[in-house]
Amino acid sequence: HPGQERGMKDDKIVIAHRGASGYLPEHTLPAYAMAYALGADYVEPDLVMTADEQLICLHDIHLESTTDVEQQFPDRARADGRWYAADFTLDEIQQLNVTERTNPDGTRVFPGRFKADAKGFKVPTFVSMVELVQSLNRETGRDVGIYPETKDPVFHDNEGLPIERVLLDTLAEYDYAGRDARVYIQSFGFENLREMREAMGSDLPMIQLIGGGEAFDDLVTPAGLDEIATYADGIGPDKNRIADTDGALVTLAHQRGLKVHPYTFRADQLPDGTRRLEDELRRYYYRYDVDGLFTDFTDIAVGVVHPE
Ligand code: G3P
Ligand code: CA
Repeated sequence: HPGQERGMKDDKIVIAHRGASGYLPEHTLPAYAMAYALGADYVEPDLVMTADEQLICLHDIHLESTTDVEQQFPDRARADGRWYAADFTLDEIQQLNVTERTNPDGTRVFPGRFKADAKGFKVPTFVSMVELVQSLNRETGRDVGIYPETKDPVFHDNEGLPIERVLLDTLAEYDYAGRDARVYIQSFGFENLREMREAMGSDLPMIQLIGGGEAFDDLVTPAGLDEIATYADGIGPDKNRIADTDGALVTLAHQRGLKVHPYTFRADQLPDGTRRLEDELRRYYYRYDVDGLFTDFTDIAVGVVHPE
């Protein structure tokens, strides 16, 4: 029974969203290491490809919201005024400093987080992220997984080598194989996971992300979820889609053997911070019965769902 299979692996996991991004600059090795130390079950890198076809850990396909690229390479913006990671080599990107995320007007997206202009945080390669997690696993005897997301596959497909191919090759090189591998591949792309599962022959666990916008509405219908179940192992919906249906979406997904991992849970977007986040996490884990969730605050979710 598919539901039984769902229950066997990874019940109620904590996914460290962009690392311990509530505390340190997102998608940096220190943020990943901190998430590991705080007890994450999986650590999430978002992935973007460089001009020389290397995978780096970055949320945006642009560099200016989380690095000092404007200061270091003022003449390298495209006509739209943005600095695309795909236009820079890995060597160039490694010269950049990662900062806390800023809005286009320079203000901070999360004003209460780490010092915005601290230097020394770098954009890591996906390989260095994987090696960090695997080396910590060897040291500690834990089996923490990785949860990579291919960012904007349509954009990358226009640039040559498919990002999906590079991801699967890298995962194979680092011995992630089969249904029980400690990895979930996630994507918002409509054909992206299907391509990896069917055309590229990967049987690694896959999660279809479902945004909050209208473009994704067909995916949360019974027919849409039936379709997802043909190529993926679960869904990663915007959390509001679960609250708005009072959990009915979780039931529909579970009936099809699909795991449910909603995003994104943050203390600093709630009026009463930490306390409210704990309440929200309890509601999703236990009332809505999700199988895991993405949070910027690893320790708070671990405290709720894996109390000692
Ligand atoms: O991947 C789940 C969640 O991370 C999706 O949102 O924009 O933070 O990648 P985003
Ligand atoms: Ca993501």
